Amino acid sequence: MSETPAIPAESPVARAVPPVVNRIVRGDVLEVLPAWPDGCVDLVFADPPFNIGYQYDQYDDNRPPDEYMAWTQRWIGQCRRVLKPGGTLWIAIGDEYAADVRVAVRRQGWFTLRNWIIWHYTFGQNCKLKFNRSHTHLFYFVKDGARFTFNVDDPRLRVPSDRQLKYNDKRANPNGRLPHDVWTFSRVCGTFKEREGWHPCQMPVALLERIVLACSNEGDVVLDPFAGSGTTLVAAARHGRRWAGVELSAEYARKAEGRVTEETAAVR
Ligand SMILES: C[S@@+](CC[C@H](N)C(=O)[O-])C[C@H]1O[C@@H](n2cnc3c(N)ncnc32)[C@H](O)[C@@H]1O
Repeated sequence: MSETPAIPAESPVARAVPPVVNRIVRGDVLEVLPAWPDGCVDLVFADPPFNIGYQYDQYDDNRPPDEYMAWTQRWIGQCRRVLKPGGTLWIAIGDEYAADVRVAVRRQGWFTLRNWIIWHYTFGQNCKLKFNRSHTHLFYFVKDGARFTFNVDDPRLRVPSDRQLKYNDKRANPNGRLPHDVWTFSRVCGTFKEREGWHPCQMPVALLERIVLACSNEGDVVLDPFAGSGTTLVAAARHGRRWAGVELSAEYARKAEGRVTEETAAVR
């Protein structure tokens, strides 16, 4: 069941389309997105650089905090503009800037926060002098708190409940329940078959599939403005969504587009 009432067909937003579909545009998100029309995208998943000194091939991931946050607000503003009125934005962010991002979005009044998901991962880095970090924050925002897509009844989202598993309770919903807000997915380690090997921070496709299935419908447009290895777009293609990405690095853009195109050919 989708919670989004249809946008009237005569609305200009109902007709807006992104300039590219099923492609990854090589470029800077702040140069690419401003050329896109308002309201042409249903779902955005953004996993930006976290400003923690990661080694990307093109990008300097070590900027003064105020500069990083000013930049963050600019790309979030562009994502908001290209989203349809019933659109959804997910942002992945580390501990260093999670609070700043949450406060910035609230101050702007841009979105309603539906969930603050903790992605709990296994196979993190090992710390010797403090507790090991094993999570990333995932903000689930909607543009309009009364109108959005959330496919509560999709069986691919649902998990068995304690009533079913532990208590053998007759009142249990036979269709299980929605997942809690702490999600456990392993990181994509070097030895995993899924690992592409040419990008430093590939996310697990299963995590993106959950988001795509919950927050979009077949034929919708899914945008990843920091496409990286193309994980979001693989999940979108796998489930019959149209997809579009933006990626600063020419090499990542080319390889990620190849990865998604292969996936699309495989599901045909
Ligand atoms: C954290 S990674 C995304 C990883 C992705 N979620 C995946 O699963 O592969 C961030 C990506 O953003 C790209 N990037 C950095 N600055 C950018 C910008 N201004 N515009 C577009 N892409 C950018 C980096 O090259 C990097 O590939």
